[in-house]
This record gives sequence, C-alpha cells and structure tokens, in this order.
Amino acid sequence: MNVEFNQDQKLMQQSAREFAEKFVKPVAKKLDDTQEFPVELIQRAAELGFMGVAIPEEYGGAGMDSLSYTIMMEEIARYCGSTSVILSVNNSLVCGPLLKYGTEEQKQKWLTPLAKGEKLGCYGLTEPNAGSDCAGTKTNAVDKGDHWLLNGAKIFITNGSHADTALVFANTDPGKGNKGISCFIVDMKSPGFSVKPMHGKMGIRASGLSELVFEDVKVPKENLLGELHKGFKIAMTTLDGGRIGIAAQAIGLARGAFEEALQYSKERVQFGQAISNFQAIQFMLSDMGMKIDAARLLTQKAAWMKDMGQNYNQQASAAKLYASEIATWVTNRAIQIHGGYGYTNEYNVERYFRDARVCEIYEGTSEIQRLVVAANLLGR
Ligand code: CAA
Repeated sequence: MNVEFNQDQKLMQQSAREFAEKFVKPVAKKLDDTQEFPVELIQRAAELGFMGVAIPEEYGGAGMDSLSYTIMMEEIARYCGSTSVILSVNNSLVCGPLLKYGTEEQKQKWLTPLAKGEKLGCYGLTEPNAGSDCAGTKTNAVDKGDHWLLNGAKIFITNGSHADTALVFANTDPGKGNKGISCFIVDMKSPGFSVKPMHGKMGIRASGLSELVFEDVKVPKENLLGELHKGFKIAMTTLDGGRIGIAAQAIGLARGAFEEALQYSKERVQFGQAISNFQAIQFMLSDMGMKIDAARLLTQKAAWMKDMGQNYNQQASAAKLYASEIATWVTNRAIQIHGGYGYTNEYNVERYFRDARVCEIYEGTSEIQRLVVAANLLGR
C-alpha cells in the first residue's frame, strides 16, 4: 500500500476540503439546531461528483477509487456528521450494490441518476425487531406473478425523508432466515409507500432519518436486485463497503474536534498561561492525534484492499470499530480540554461528540464488528 496519495486522490482531497470549508462549515451548527435536511448542500456536493465517488463515469459517477471516497468522507465529516452520512449512504449503501449486483438495465435506470446526484437513495435493512440480527427481517415480498407485493416497515433509515429510491430487503421465503431474503429496488413514489420522519436523535440530526412503511406496494418483477433469496449476502457485502465510509466519517469527526481543541488550548489562559503549556493537556493532545492517524491508516488499508479486489471484510470491520471508538474518545477529550465551555453549544465540540457517538452503532455496532473480526481470525 502506498501511503502517499496519487494525483487524483490529492485533487479529491483539495476539492472536498474546499467544498467543506466554504459550504459545509458555515451551516453545520444550523443543520444540527434545525434538523433540516441540507438539500442545497447535497446538490452542490453532487456537482462535484461526491454522490458516486467510486462509481464509473459511464454510470454517472466520478470514476475514482475507494481510497478517494474515504478522503472525501473525512473532509466533509470534519465539519458535519449529518452531511457526511447522507453522502455515505448514497455512495456505499445504494450506488455500491447497484453497481455490483445490478443488471445493465438497472444500472442505466437506477444507478446513473443516483451517482449523478439527480436522485437520492436510502437503504432499507433495519426493522424494529431486526437490528443487529438483520436476518430476522419481517418485511415480506410475495410473488404475484407479474409483480412483487411488498408489506412491512423499516426504521432508522438515513435519507428516508428526501430519498427517491430505496433498496429494500424483504423475506421472499419465510422461515428460511438469511436464505430467504431478497433485495428490491423500490421507487419511493409507489402507491402504498409512506415515510414517517423520526426525531429526537442525540446527533446526526439533519440526516432525514425516517421510518419506511410498505402497504401492498407493487414492485415490478425487474426490480429484484441480484438473485432471488440471495439478498442477505448483498446486505452483508454492501455493509463491508459502507463500514469503510463510516470509519472515514468517524475520523473526520475526531479530526474536527481535535483541531478545535488544539486551537483552544493555545488560546485559553489559566494560571497565567495558555493551557497548552500544561502536560495534562499535552498528553491528551498527543493521544488524540496519534489515535486519529492510526485509525486513518487502518481505514486506508481497508479501502486499498477493496480497490485491489481483495477480501476486505475483516479490515473494514476493524477500521470501523477502531475509528468509531477513538472518535468517541477523541471528541470526549476535546470537550474536556474546553472545560465548562465544551459542555455548552457555544463551541462545536459537544456536537462532534454527539455526532461521533452513533458511529459505534450504525452500520453494525462495535460488538458486531468484533464478531466479524473474530470470525475471520478463527477462520469461520
Ligand atoms: N460477505 C459475504 N457473505 C457474508 C458476509 C459478508 N460480509 N457476512 C456473512 N456472509 C454470509 C455467510 O458466509 C453465510 O453464508 P452461508 O450461509 O452460505 O455459509 C451467511 O452470510 C450467513 O452468515 P452468518 O451466519 O454469519 O449470519 P448471521 O445471521 O449470524 O449475521 C452478522 C452475521 C455479522 C451479525 C450480520 O447480521 C450483521 O452484520 N449484522 C449487523 C447489521 C448491520 O450492520 N446493520 C446496519 C444497518 S444499515 C445502517 O445502519 C445505515 C445507516 O443508518 C447509516
């Protein structure tokens, strides 16, 4: 693995950084306060190719690699958790499987507008009683001859409030567990499809989190993604890619909080001097910077392995696990360095902490990541 970015990756870093500083940074606090989905910001991101970074240009994407995708994610998350997860879901969880499993016709019809950012996608896996145990999905699709009839509900769906297209995992052979699940591409304007916004989240509050409800939704036969009853593997391989994106998001959030804490420590005077002169603060800063670097290297390794066509299941989970746990730790330390001010919304660090916390939960909890890593170590 080359630790120096190539020309394309450098350009991605520059472009994402400029975009984030100019457009994301000024609105991040407002997005958290109002919980409004950043429609215009996402349109601007789409113009720069950030909605389908690793999707080939022939399908509307930017034609870059997974490493470039992690670079983009880190730069955006450095200022805003909500904006970065919106991009992550569209890139990894929707465009990713459409590219990998879609027919040529499906790619033209569904992937291309999503990768261009003309449309927005969401990923319908989680249900009220099927979270970590996502094979326990109760949503079902019944074969009606010329179409599938979809019934059920999904919760905690990022982008749900503004998405046009949903990938929905449903039971097509009840009683068969993970061997009876299929994946469908569903037009969210279909009759019987309704969306209920979910509020009250601790962080990532502008991501359009919603519940999706399907009441006799007719899904055309040609909207089956991949093979019948093979949807669980689509869900799993998709999450492998998604977890790299969430790792990069966690790094961005940790870095944003770290940079603010570093700056604050040089400005805040106590006992007649800047608090950065105190070893207690210096020790925190060194550990914060070191952990961010380590998490980035793990994440880049997972992305590089994906780009090389290697099995990256273990590395994606390890990167997501480590990056999300250090993001909670780093953002928490950033609050500590800010003292009482850090506990108020006058400073951004409390938002970084709230946003970072979910990285240990979504796209598989830290406990699930440990299971995945252990399964690989034990050769299962
Ligand atoms: N790639 C390919 N195949 C895989 C795979 C992978 N990564 N992981 C599992 N499989 C295969 C297994 O090989 C096995 O195949 P066979 O039956 O042919 O041998 C099959 O799938 C079943 O595997 P398991 O027995 O390991 O399945 P399980 O039911 O025990 O579940 C799990 C394994 C790792 C716990 C899985 O359920 C999991 O990852 N759960 C977490 C779910 C999750 O991450 N949800 C996130 C929702 S999306 C989200 O959060 C988006 C957002 O808001 C941002």
